[in-house]
Amino acid sequence: MSNELLKYAVKVAEKVNMILGEVVRGDEKQLYDASYYLLKAGGKRLRPLLTVLSARLFGLSEDISIYPAASVELLHNFTLIHDDIMDRDEFRRGIPTVHKVYGEAMAILAGDLLFAKSFEVMFRLVGVIPYERIVKALKELTWAAVTVAEGQALDMEFEGRADVKVDEYLKMVFKKTAALFKASAYIGAVVAGAEESDLERISEFAKNIGIAFQIRDDELGLVGDEKVLGKPVFSDLREGKKTILVIYALERVNDEQRRLILDILGNRNASVEEFKKVANIIIESGALEYSNRVAEEYLRKGMSKLEEINTKDLEAKYLLREFAEFLTKRLY
Ligand code: IPE
Ligand code: IPE
Ligand code: MG
Ligand code: MG
Repeated sequence: MSNELLKYAVKVAEKVNMILGEVVRGDEKQLYDASYYLLKAGGKRLRPLLTVLSARLFGLSEDISIYPAASVELLHNFTLIHDDIMDRDEFRRGIPTVHKVYGEAMAILAGDLLFAKSFEVMFRLVGVIPYERIVKALKELTWAAVTVAEGQALDMEFEGRADVKVDEYLKMVFKKTAALFKASAYIGAVVAGAEESDLERISEFAKNIGIAFQIRDDELGLVGDEKVLGKPVFSDLREGKKTILVIYALERVNDEQRRLILDILGNRNASVEEFKKVANIIIESGALEYSNRVAEEYLRKGMSKLEEINTKDLEAKYLLREFAEFLTKRLY
């Protein structure tokens, strides 16, 4: 991340964290402890940053866009808590997952609470901006929640299939990940009062870079550094996920290698050595070069949409370019 973007990201994160601390507090201590636990652990706060920068493009300051920004971060954290139960992952953001610490039942409930809170915080806009914009923002948030659930269902369904195609993968990734990036940008722009044509442009920008972001995430799940990432590598292999790298490799390798990959993929009893062996076969198939090319293509598509937007806030536009680059090239 460039220094300018990092500085601004920290500033937005601080403001968002203030709101999150206010919103996620209440009487049932266990529930609120479990719900605040992952939020407190940090995270990159990318989605709220996208909301705030999108709002700035259309002339709205952080002081107002920070509420919808907190909203998308809450929705994101809800999906992470449930995702870690589904993916049987034991750490995230460098600490044990919510279900490991508080148990599965409380983790499901903590997710539910954050889901509801993501809507609650949006109502802070009442009396601040026109109703019509708030309704549009809530409609988008609702769409994102529905779409992420559909994407997660596809992700799970693909675990049981060896013939998943790249097109199917891209649809799944659009739903499970890019939808919330799209919603984060759209919501920022709509609360700022952007016109329909600009809403379309910013949505396309965010959707495309969101897909690139998930492709990069799949790469990091294979070749990333656990300490830097704060979450486990090889978890995708263990769970039998059809990442773009696995799909590419399965289509290229010889029969023996294919058998080995299919033998280890989704096998929870396989050893780290076996996962490493499979990871190497995938890497040697050229899967990383391929996934990089696809991610670059989505980045480029997204960037061209951003360039079509006219704005007075050239700094916000510059920061959004940097943001998009970071999503595709990040190490964490
Ligand atoms: C993780 O998202 C979930 C994916 C969509 C890959 P982030 O990488 O944005 O997670 P945090 O918020 O920084 O922890
Ligand atoms: C990302 O899921 C999408 C959601 C959490 C909804 P993944 O399972 O691919 O992401 P990580 O690797 O656990 O963060
Ligand atoms: Mg996961
Ligand atoms: Mg998952």
